[in-house]
Amino acid sequence: MNGRTYRIAIIGAGVIGKQHGKLVSELDRLELVAVADHDVERARELTDLRGGAPFRDVAEVLAATDVDVVAVCTPTGAHGEVAVAALDAGKHVVIEKPAEVTLERIDEIIAAQQRAGTLVTVISQHRFDRSTEIVADAIAGGRLGRLTSGIASIDWWRGQSYYDSGQWRGTWELDGGGALMNQGVHTVDLLVAALGEPVEVFAYTGLLAHEGIEVEDVAVGVVRFASGALGVLHGSTAAFPGMSARLQVHGDRGSAVIDDDRLVYIHESSSEEPGEDRAYGANGDDSTNQVSRYAEQGPSGPTAGSDPGAMSDAHRHQYENVLAALDGDEELRVTLQDNRRSVSVILGVYESARTGRPVRLGVGSGAS
Ligand SMILES: NC(=O)c1ccc[n+]([C@@H]2O[C@H](COP(=O)([O-])OP(=O)(O)OC[C@H]3O[C@@H](n4cnc5c(N)ncnc54)[C@H](O)[C@@H]3O)[C@@H](O)[C@H]2O)c1
Repeated sequence: MNGRTYRIAIIGAGVIGKQHGKLVSELDRLELVAVADHDVERARELTDLRGGAPFRDVAEVLAATDVDVVAVCTPTGAHGEVAVAALDAGKHVVIEKPAEVTLERIDEIIAAQQRAGTLVTVISQHRFDRSTEIVADAIAGGRLGRLTSGIASIDWWRGQSYYDSGQWRGTWELDGGGALMNQGVHTVDLLVAALGEPVEVFAYTGLLAHEGIEVEDVAVGVVRFASGALGVLHGSTAAFPGMSARLQVHGDRGSAVIDDDRLVYIHESSSEEPGEDRAYGANGDDSTNQVSRYAEQGPSGPTAGSDPGAMSDAHRHQYENVLAALDGDEELRVTLQDNRRSVSVILGVYESARTGRPVRLGVGSGAS
């Protein structure tokens, strides 16, 4: 592997901070030099395991160490303050999803990035799943035809103990929302990546199966996209355990379904050879020209699926993109503006649910 080594600090040593620590230790070109957590013992546990020095917050890290990249793994509503501090110190930044809890806060990060001129990505690791890449490639190649609709459905369960495990969880101030903002943002982001600029949302939300939280544990909504395509959102942490997160994308020449990160169905029309349709998946059997290329892709193909526990695999692909972007060899595949667009849909859901009205989504991005 070519390219220089970059020095990285992780801010926030909780559930996902530990995953970043593991991943950094596996990537040759990243050196963990610091971990900060308000609970400094947590930071120390991670540095004992993965290297670097423990600190209490990002300010201490920036004052005491020389880092190239700061990974922001604090609760969502604290992403902005950490990211802006790092950017004002001229660092590159990796921010866990979602970027922040309001569009104004995301715009503050965008403004800081523009001042700094450094790179910022927001983790949306499922954009790097092989299944997502196959569908994105089919869309870009016109092989699903004109996109007409899509469904993002996150039919998950989170026990009361999950919400009780951190005071910030389930609060507007720090979680920014519930089933859709925290758990559902990944699938909403995939829907937005597939269908483009969202322009209007109408939604209902409910808190039906948990106690002591402020935010929704079920949300349903509809989205209209600038292209005219229509989307359906369903996000729940109150669906009896065992169900999946599912994305469906439909066009007038093909459709695709990703279920728990696996491509379970795709039907696409060849743009080079009209009439040469290709299909994969249970419902593809009726295709006269069915091909098995998806089934034959081996371990990295969609039939191999991805281990839901192997979170760092998809994270690793995103970090590899960050490294390539730092080297100047690739564009960042997920920008702050990308994540802003997805967060705007979710905030639109909340506003619609509060007001009982459809919500127009602004096209602003904070970019100057
Ligand atoms: N990409 C994914 O799949 C994924 C998965 C889980 C969590 N996340 C995201 O990661 C973020 C953190 O979630 P988590 O589950 O790891 O939370 P967590 O509560 O387990 O960890 C957060 C840690 O940050 C520390 N902290 C809080 N404010 C701080 C500050 N200003 N400076 C330094 N440390 C601070 C806390 O003490 C805690 O140890 C959230 O934004 C969440 O949405 C992403």
